Amino acid sequence: MNKTLGICGLVITLSALLAGCERPPIIAVQGGPRGTAMEQIYNPRTLAKQASLNVVPESSPPVPVQADGPTAGKTYQNVKVLGDLSLGEFARTMVALTAWVSPQQGCNYCHVEGNFADESKYTYVVSRRMLQMTQHLNGEWQQHVASTGVTCYTCHRGNPVPQNVWYDPKKSRLDTAAMGGMPGMNQPAASVGLSSLPSDPFTDYLLNDKPIRVNGPVPMAGKGATANRHSTKQAEYTYGLMVHMSSSLGVNCTYCHNTQSFQDWSISPPQRTTAYYGIRMARDLNQSYLNAEPLTSVFPANRRGPNGDIAKVNCTTCHQGAFKPLYGAKMAQDYPAMLPSDKRKDPNAAAALPAAAASATPTANAPQAAAPKVGG
Ligand code: HEC
Ligand code: HEC
Ligand code: HEC
Ligand code: HEC
Repeated sequence: MNKTLGICGLVITLSALLAGCERPPIIAVQGGPRGTAMEQIYNPRTLAKQASLNVVPESSPPVPVQADGPTAGKTYQNVKVLGDLSLGEFARTMVALTAWVSPQQGCNYCHVEGNFADESKYTYVVSRRMLQMTQHLNGEWQQHVASTGVTCYTCHRGNPVPQNVWYDPKKSRLDTAAMGGMPGMNQPAASVGLSSLPSDPFTDYLLNDKPIRVNGPVPMAGKGATANRHSTKQAEYTYGLMVHMSSSLGVNCTYCHNTQSFQDWSISPPQRTTAYYGIRMARDLNQSYLNAEPLTSVFPANRRGPNGDIAKVNCTTCHQGAFKPLYGAKMAQDYPAMLPSDKRKDPNAAAALPAAAASATPTANAPQAAAPKVGG
């Protein structure tokens, strides 16, 4: 009798202890030599949720350009960015912008009814700047976006305002700082994976360029120029950013680090280098496009944050839980409007490529060649 009660007690205690753990099955994928703990732990239920967020919309093939056919720039009155597109490709682009940004509202989300050349809607002005920003991303940030590239859909996903953005939390920061803590600390925030770390690592690292460091060059804090600025506070913010990066990509720390030394680049997986450029790219977008003119003055009050700023991007804006946005679907290549003119592939050449040539290409990109090497 007592024995049964004891076992019951044990079972109850164990289930109470395990309640905080994730329910099996959990998948572990090895990414390095055995015994080095370079593995990724995935929860199939979380993966299923991410997959539904990263579905690629259908697209029609690009419209080949006719030699000396009329271009949008020559035909329309007020085309400043997409002037060199053929009329067919220009129309296809407008249909795509509508599907990516304002599928419910249609063309008139950006255009004044009856006059496509009219600039009076702020959404039209913003879109022209967004076209330049997207071309800049695909042209100048290949170290991060590679040939996968981005389109309006990467951030917008069918919404006028992308769902994952951040605003300046200056006011709420002061509130919590006044209570004696680090700004935004100990209030579990989604931005840092519901941890109690400072909830805004973005202002320092994705808008300003404060160093992202935990280990300083000298052991103890000093004074003046030799001071170790890598204080406990800096460490807390750094970890806040790291948790944000892990959760936006749906990965663990070992996707980018070897835990033998988080600092040492020589033993870090190559993804850490891509992430390094990702941080600089997000800063560039926030500094030069979103938090800058002409955009800062055109947004209406209802699109601004509590301190009057406009929304800015972080890793989740594009990644939305996936290691590559949309699992690496190369959408941008099919839309010449998304690429600066020197990076566009010639749709006429692609159409002319004989099928035999395509099938004779060596299979250098076979999945087994791309898989991480497992050695011992
Ligand atoms: C998300 C905003 C957006 C949506 C939605 C949109 N457009 Fe546009 N449209 C623009 C921008 C920005 C330009 C100017 C492009 C440039 O300067 O290169 C433009 C230019 C045009 C022009 C050239 C007008 C001229 O004379 O200068 C036409 C025509 C046009 N759009 C048609 C359409 C149609 C048709 C639709 C719906 C299928 C549509 N647009 C949906 C943003 C949009
Ligand atoms: C890197 C991410 C990113 C990309 C790529 C991007 N946008 Fe945006 N877009 C934003 C952010 C962030 C805002 C700001 C929202 C705010 O402050 O309300 C925004 C706002 C807008 C708005 C204003 C919507 C509103 O209702 O206020 C329009 C229109 C827009 N974008 C069109 C486009 C078009 C067209 C493209 C592709 C040429 C594009 N965007 C590409 C991030 C992006
Ligand atoms: C997507 C890649 C990525 C993930 C995931 C990631 N990190 Fe990082 N981590 C980086 C990069 C890149 C830097 C260097 C940033 C810089 O210098 O701009 C860095 C820097 C650091 C540093 C500072 C090292 C120093 O020089 O002082 C620490 C500590 C760290 N990460 C810990 C973590 C922890 C803990 C996790 C998991 C919660 C994590 N990281 C997840 C990419 C990543
Ligand atoms: C403007 C959209 C955008 C933003 C913002 C963005 N990324 Fe990316 N990221 C991409 C694209 C596109 C790729 C795919 C590149 C490729 O195919 O190699 C990518 C790839 C990566 C990879 C490589 C994954 C792999 O397995 O090879 C890492 C790591 C990464 N991003 C980290 C980050 C981090 C960290 C941030 C925030 C500081 C960030 N990204 C912000 C668009 C973005």
